Amino acid sequence: MFDHRFSHLTSAALSHRAEQYAHLLREVADGFPACPHQGGWADPRQSASEPVLKSVEELAARIRREGELFILIGVGGSNNAARAVINALGSSGPDIVYAGNSTAPSAIEQVLRRMEGRSVFIHIIAKNFATLEPGAAFRVIRKKLYDTYGENAARRIIATGTPGSSLHRLCQAHGWAFLPFPETVGGRYSALTEVGLLPMAAAGIDIRRLVEGAAAMRERLLSAPAGDNPALLYAAARSLLYEQGYRAEVLTFFEPRLRWFAKWWIQLFAESGGKGDRGLLPVACECSEELHAMGQFLQQGTPIALETFLRMEDEAGPALSPDGVDDGFGYLDQKDFSQLNRAAETGSLRAHSARLPCLQIMGGPCDEKTFGGLFYFFMLSCVFSCRMSGADPFDQPGVEAYKTSMFQALGKE
Ligand code: PA5
Repeated sequence: MFDHRFSHLTSAALSHRAEQYAHLLREVADGFPACPHQGGWADPRQSASEPVLKSVEELAARIRREGELFILIGVGGSNNAARAVINALGSSGPDIVYAGNSTAPSAIEQVLRRMEGRSVFIHIIAKNFATLEPGAAFRVIRKKLYDTYGENAARRIIATGTPGSSLHRLCQAHGWAFLPFPETVGGRYSALTEVGLLPMAAAGIDIRRLVEGAAAMRERLLSAPAGDNPALLYAAARSLLYEQGYRAEVLTFFEPRLRWFAKWWIQLFAESGGKGDRGLLPVACECSEELHAMGQFLQQGTPIALETFLRMEDEAGPALSPDGVDDGFGYLDQKDFSQLNRAAETGSLRAHSARLPCLQIMGGPCDEKTFGGLFYFFMLSCVFSCRMSGADPFDQPGVEAYKTSMFQALGKE
């Protein structure tokens, strides 16, 4: 699933670096014993155990039965994973709207407008319930819900938060449903817990299949030897290329349904690895559109980036049958869109790798199982990368800086 042939790195150098970190595989198998408060996602069969799946499915069934609009309030790790999958695979249930991820008046206005005349359910996800964006959005949306439904609004509110937190106490006081945000899982590692799974299930995503995909990936990664382990090799490549002076990693994909997945990937790697004056700046490149933008920079701009192609399996798509118009595209006769996409992808890989190191990760078809596997693969690779660079994959001290001055401006004690 990982291919470094277009990176200029040798297999020997990569395997050597990966083998130096072989002990990390043991740490994963043991659930990250050195960070007991952060390793709760290491085994998807536990973070998404049968009782967790059942409680999520039960709540989701009610939302699907009665809801026309489902508002997911959360920011960063608290909403990105669900949004990635729902935007890629679509909702077969209520329309899904995202809030609490912006301070812009236009964003909240738009959400309030969409609530008009619809049967609404809201889901606030907040691990510590002090983050301003979800807190402010929750207040405004909740008020509209109570204005519309009176006391019946309570049964339309679901919260995912830390047990014992102020959000939990509010749920108890007001009769809102409460789902625990696992205490041993940070936001950006929460895809395979209640946090990511409830919104996905509300949208009709097959969450069991997603968890299966993640569990299968875990087994695959934990049984592969270090020197041939895709997650360790990917982390090793990032680490070696950083040492060679590369400072950015572009995630390139030719499946536009991955747009929000790329946002999840950026958040995971930026917040985990960008600290201590180190780290590769994570950037996304949605192709083939951005070949007409980023493609120029990658080919001839400042040579700071490595590029990781995330390859998905396409369906055939419509055939380009000739229609008798001499439009100059006769060379496409009888081809289909999957052939076009593959040619664009392979062509870019060849062209870009003549200038910069390119890695490839083979995803699979755009479905639940693939997403589960990719979530797990990247979360693990991210931790491995951080261990290789010396960054703490689980904290985000830099995020506090803007909060401090924003809170001052708003008069928060
Ligand atoms: O990944 C992370 O830990 C962060 O992005 C958090 O998810 C984000 O800051 C939201 O935190 P909270 O759920 O506490 O509001």
